[in-house]
Amino acid sequence: MEELLYYNEEEEWNQALLLYKAVLKEICTKLEILNEEFKLAHQYNPIEHITSRIKSMHSIARKMRLKQKELTVENVVRYINDVAGVRIICSFTSDIYRIASSIAKQDDITIIKVKDYIANPKPNGYMSYHMIVSIPIYLSNDVIHTKVEIQIRTIAMDFWASLEHKIYYKFEGKAPGNIRDELKECADIIAFLDQKMLSINENIKNYNHEFDSDPEISSDISIVDMEEKESEIEQTKLSRRNIVTESLKSLFDSVSNSK
Ligand code: GTP
Ligand code: MG
Repeated sequence: MEELLYYNEEEEWNQALLLYKAVLKEICTKLEILNEEFKLAHQYNPIEHITSRIKSMHSIARKMRLKQKELTVENVVRYINDVAGVRIICSFTSDIYRIASSIAKQDDITIIKVKDYIANPKPNGYMSYHMIVSIPIYLSNDVIHTKVEIQIRTIAMDFWASLEHKIYYKFEGKAPGNIRDELKECADIIAFLDQKMLSINENIKNYNHEFDSDPEISSDISIVDMEEKESEIEQTKLSRRNIVTESLKSLFDSVSNSK
């Protein structure tokens, strides 16, 4: 009997791993749903791709050493926020904020920490939007709120971060000044590129509306009129979508509530 009560850390770690794997599944499903919904409404995917990972034992041990904490399951759960991590790669900077706010709005998600390295890039040039959130995981007899780190960035930001990560490790965090300067320069170019791509995308939207409308009329339309017209079209689409969603919501709710 005594043996059964013996504290088994391996069992505890396996249970924790189950939770971290589950939270990755939950968040990835939520993201896929948002992406599909967005595609239906706007005819493009705001998410280019998603990667997820469980932190390796080796990295966990290194981080715990850096934090000068004993390597126990309790300390890992308490002090490491990124045992479960997802990275969302978006097309445009505007998509990053759109995705982040859709995540933040979900009732079952608790936001623990947000770091906006896009509004405030790190001195080395690193840009990304980071969130630490917790999501309830339903087990047979329990609900356990489990943390996951979400990093959201554009393709260009991801390109820079991957290379910088390699260089950081190559020089064990002490890259020579000229390499650091060049990396910072690349980060500035990448921020400029993202800005440029975003404005090209906005222009493409305007062209679409121009082609959609009567050419006789559109040739006389000024930029201000075009912007007004565009926002009117967007508004109409939005109201139509809201009506459809509302009516589906009441239909789905009524069907789900009837026995
Ligand atoms: P940890 O770094 O996870 O201990 O916590 P923190 O509070 O410093 O978190 P932060 O949100 O600043 O960074 C979390 C993660 O973002 C890191 O583990 C990296 O994956 C990534 N990251 C942060 N800064 C950089 C950077 O300068 N370069 C690269 N390539 N990645 C970074
Ligand atoms: Mg990390």
